Amino acid sequence: MTSTSLAVRRIGFGAMHLPTTPAAARENAKAVARRAVELGVPLIDTAHLYGGGANEELLAEALHPYPDGLLITTKVGVARTGPDGEWRLDGRPDVLRDQVDQALRRLRLDRIELLQLHRIDPEIPLADQVGTLRDLREQGKVNLIGLSEVTVEQLDQARDIVEIASVQNRYNALDREHEPVLDACERAGIAFLPWRPVAAGATGTNPAFAAVAAETGATATQVALAWLLHRSPVMLPIPGTARIGHMEENLAAERVRLTEAQFQRCGR
Ligand SMILES: NC(=O)c1ccc[n+]([C@@H]2O[C@H](COP(=O)([O-])OP(=O)(O)OC[C@H]3O[C@@H](n4cnc5c(N)ncnc54)[C@H](OP(=O)(O)O)[C@@H]3O)[C@@H](O)[C@H]2O)c1
Repeated sequence: MTSTSLAVRRIGFGAMHLPTTPAAARENAKAVARRAVELGVPLIDTAHLYGGGANEELLAEALHPYPDGLLITTKVGVARTGPDGEWRLDGRPDVLRDQVDQALRRLRLDRIELLQLHRIDPEIPLADQVGTLRDLREQGKVNLIGLSEVTVEQLDQARDIVEIASVQNRYNALDREHEPVLDACERAGIAFLPWRPVAAGATGTNPAFAAVAAETGATATQVALAWLLHRSPVMLPIPGTARIGHMEENLAAERVRLTEAQFQRCGR
């Protein structure tokens, strides 16, 4: 995946909020995922962490066989310390390999098109973690490799080991701590998938976005997403929602264009 190959559709869907129980909520969650696909979403983001694989299973139940052009990406590297234990970063190679095998089974895939390392585990050498993903790629279980919550330095170290196709860091117009990482991705043509792209809904009530929304006829949340698309050509936001209405609103933001002045006002 390069930013060029993602250029046609640029807003994805973060599936983390989809409930898997009880049965009625599960059916609604499947309908949300199917609506995203009907609307042509290019990428759906999940993770082993989201329910210990339950979120991956839900997506497969809702969407398999997957339509051409839909990329389902998952993340590995956070594991439970025991059956009822707590979730901790765990980048040990055997854990990464096992979570990939579980994801292949749960997602009903022969190959994971984009596998992301959820976090760099500080207790394990970065080279061992990224090297394991490279080996999985050589075995054909994974195609592209991405990282999440990394610094520019970690990104550079990883790129010395294997090609990195994407980075997923927390980023939105109100929270720009990872600006240097975004710039590094842009320079290298690496897709940047900001998580928390609508600031967990807070962009909807932000006065700057609301003012631009009034000018453009869009909603404030759509303006926040349009701001991200305007910010960089490598940007592919993955807003999360469990509601069809919000999904429709978010994906329609792709059609909202900001002037440079509107962009500047929202980014202050
Ligand atoms: N890599 C990582 O470490 C990491 C961490 C967290 C999340 N993620 C991924 O990133 C995705 C997005 O991140 P996020 O969920 O933390 O943040 P987000 O997308 O900024 O916010 C999601 C929240 O905003 C609400 N929302 C969404 N669209 C809305 C709209 N149009 N109007 C009003 N409220 C709206 C949703 O509530 P409703 O359900 O009510 O719409 C949901 O509670 C996740 O789904 C997950 O796939 C990755």
